Amino acid sequence: MLEASEASRMSISEDFLKREDLRSHLFRETWSTLIPEVFRDVPTYYDRGNAVASLGSCSRWSATFANAIHAHLPPGAKILDVCSGTHDIPLRLLALDPTLDIHTVDGSVHMTAEGQRRARERDLKIDARVCDAHVLPFPDNSFDAVTLQFASRHLEIIKAFKEINRVLKPGGIFCHNDMLRPASRVVELPYLAFLRFSVWFTAKLFGSSAESMKCVGYFADAIRHFYKPQELTELLKSPASSTSKTAAFSPVLCRTTSRASRRPRTKMAWLF
Ligand SMILES: C[S@@+](CC[C@H](N)C(=O)[O-])C[C@H]1O[C@@H](n2cnc3c(N)ncnc32)[C@H](O)[C@@H]1O
Repeated sequence: MLEASEASRMSISEDFLKREDLRSHLFRETWSTLIPEVFRDVPTYYDRGNAVASLGSCSRWSATFANAIHAHLPPGAKILDVCSGTHDIPLRLLALDPTLDIHTVDGSVHMTAEGQRRARERDLKIDARVCDAHVLPFPDNSFDAVTLQFASRHLEIIKAFKEINRVLKPGGIFCHNDMLRPASRVVELPYLAFLRFSVWFTAKLFGSSAESMKCVGYFADAIRHFYKPQELTELLKSPASSTSKTAAFSPVLCRTTSRASRRPRTKMAWLF
């Protein structure tokens, strides 16, 4: 069951709560036991694996995302990258503006260690913490921007959005980039079939661990039970999870969202 408060149960539709309950029921075990194991051996081939699985597009998606975020950040902005993995987005942002103050959280000590190694290699400083993305170890109103890329399908998304909203400063921005569930059934079926094959092929190619092989079906299932672009937009608009300036981007199905909020807002901006 979702541990949403009664207040948020009133402001987030029953449909979302039911779907979050279902996602949690289906994937709780995978999220808590398998996912940490999967990301144990991934750091060494993460970039090459993404390149293979996305037919060479992944790096371009990340670069586009980082450029779009950067366009909305003042110099010296304080940023939190949630589920930061090997710090792909922080490193791209720091290459664009070394004055940024970047913090990260990720559940995997191995992905974080690789990210820190990459930062040291470039003589860059990123403040990294290993922790669960659902309980961010920061006070309210801490960050000018929060970024989240390629991980939301592994999260209890209402909980995660509420935490992100909590740590964002008034007027802060939330930038999201992920593969979402396709809006059209005609696209969804071949897309999920491709995903199953590409994840299986990548895992085989890089000699992934037994745990990763167990997750091959999960990656497509997690997207099948995730949200379509319009649905994620609605969720981001709900007062319990909303951020003052929100941009969602799906590299597969491009959509943008922005919302009116209970927080003061500087201006609306569409990143994509
Ligand atoms: C596919 S990687 C994405 C990494 C990075 N954001 C990127 O764009 O390359 C997913 C990351 O989410 C992290 N993750 C998954 N569930 C998490 C959770 N509940 N709390 C913190 N990190 C989590 C994993 O450890 C992994 O590093």
